[in-house]
Amino acid sequence: MHESILVYRKSRYLKYALALTLLSVAVYLLDNPVGPPNGGTWLGYTLGTIAAVLMVWLAWFGVRKRRYGVGVTPLEDWLSAHIYLGMALALIATLHSGFQLGLNIHSALYVLMMVAIVSGVVGLYFYIRFPRLLSQNRGGLSTDAMLVLIAELDREIRRIAITMDDAVNNVALKAAQDTIAGGSVYEQLRGYDQNCPTTVARLFIESGSGAQHDERHRQLLVRLVRKEDLLHRVRNDIQMRCLLKIWLYVHIPFSVAALAALLTHVVTVFYYW
Ligand code: HEM
Ligand code: HEM
Repeated sequence: MHESILVYRKSRYLKYALALTLLSVAVYLLDNPVGPPNGGTWLGYTLGTIAAVLMVWLAWFGVRKRRYGVGVTPLEDWLSAHIYLGMALALIATLHSGFQLGLNIHSALYVLMMVAIVSGVVGLYFYIRFPRLLSQNRGGLSTDAMLVLIAELDREIRRIAITMDDAVNNVALKAAQDTIAGGSVYEQLRGYDQNCPTTVARLFIESGSGAQHDERHRQLLVRLVRKEDLLHRVRNDIQMRCLLKIWLYVHIPFSVAALAALLTHVVTVFYYW
C-alpha cells in the first residue's frame, strides 16, 4: 500500500465520503427539531443508523482482509473506501449526537469510536510512509541478510582481535556478545542503544588506547564501522515494524470495543424509549 490508495480509482471513495458528509451537514443545518438536535429526532435516528452501518462495515474489513480470493471487489477498493468512509463516520456520528456529549455510556461509545478513527489516521500515515522507508533503510537487503552479515562481521572482528592485546580483545568480545538489536518493546521503539558495546569498541579502537595503530587496528575499525551501520539499519527496521504492530494493537481492539459499546448504546436507548 502507498499513496495511490488515497487517489485510488480517481479518488472515487473520497467523493462518496464527501457527498455523504455534505448531505448530512446540509440536512442537519436545514432540520428544525423540537428542542435541541439530538440522537432521538428523526434525523438523529437516521444519522445514527447510517453511523452504525458504517461502523459494522468498517469492522468487517478485518474479516474480508483474511478471506483471500473471496468476493469480486478488490481489497484496494475496500481499503480506500475504509479510509474515507471511516473519516466520514466521525462527522456523521457527531451530527447524530447533536454535539450532546457528557459522562455517559453513549459518549463512551463516541470516545471509543474516535480512538479507532484517529488511530486509523495514524496507521494510514505509517502504511504510506513505512514501505518506502523500510526498503530505503534495508538498501536491498532483507532483515535476515543484515543479521547474517552482522554475525559474519562479529566472527571476523573476534578473529582479528584475538591476535591483539587484552584490552582490544575484551572490547571486541563484548561487542560480539553483548550487542543487542531489538530487545524489550521500549528498546525496539527507541531504535538505538546509547551504550551499544559495538560503538564502545569502535570508539576505543578510534581513540588508539590500548595499542599503537597498525594494520590490524585499521581492519578492526573498518569492520566495527560496517557493523554499526548495519546495526543502525536493523534497529530502524525493528522500530518501524514494532510501531506497526503496536498500531494494530490499538486499532483492532478499539474497533471491537466500539462495536460492543454500539450494541450497548442501541439496547440502552431502545430500553429507555
Ligand atoms: C456509531 C454509531 C453511534 C454513535 C457514535 C452514537 C453516539 C451517540 C451519542 C454520543 C449520543 C448523545 C448522548 C447524550 O445525549 O448524552 C447519542 C444519542 C442517541 N443515540 Fe446514538 N450513536 C450511534 C448510533 C445510534 C443508533 C444506531 C441509534 C438507534 C437506532 C442511536 C440512537 C440514539 C438515541 C435515541 C439517542 C438519544 C439518547 C438521549 O437523548 O437520551 N444511536 N448517540
Ligand atoms: C470506527 C472506525 C473504524 C473501524 C471499526 C476500523 C476497523 C478496522 C479493522 C477491523 C481493520 C482490519 C485490521 C486487521 O485485521 O488487520 C482495519 C484496518 C485498517 N484501518 Fe481501520 N477502522 C476504522 C477507521 C479507520 C480510519 C478512519 C482509517 C484511516 C483514516 C483506518 C485505516 C485503516 C488501515 C490503514 C488499516 C490497515 C489496512 C491493512 O492492513 O492493509 N481505519 N480497520
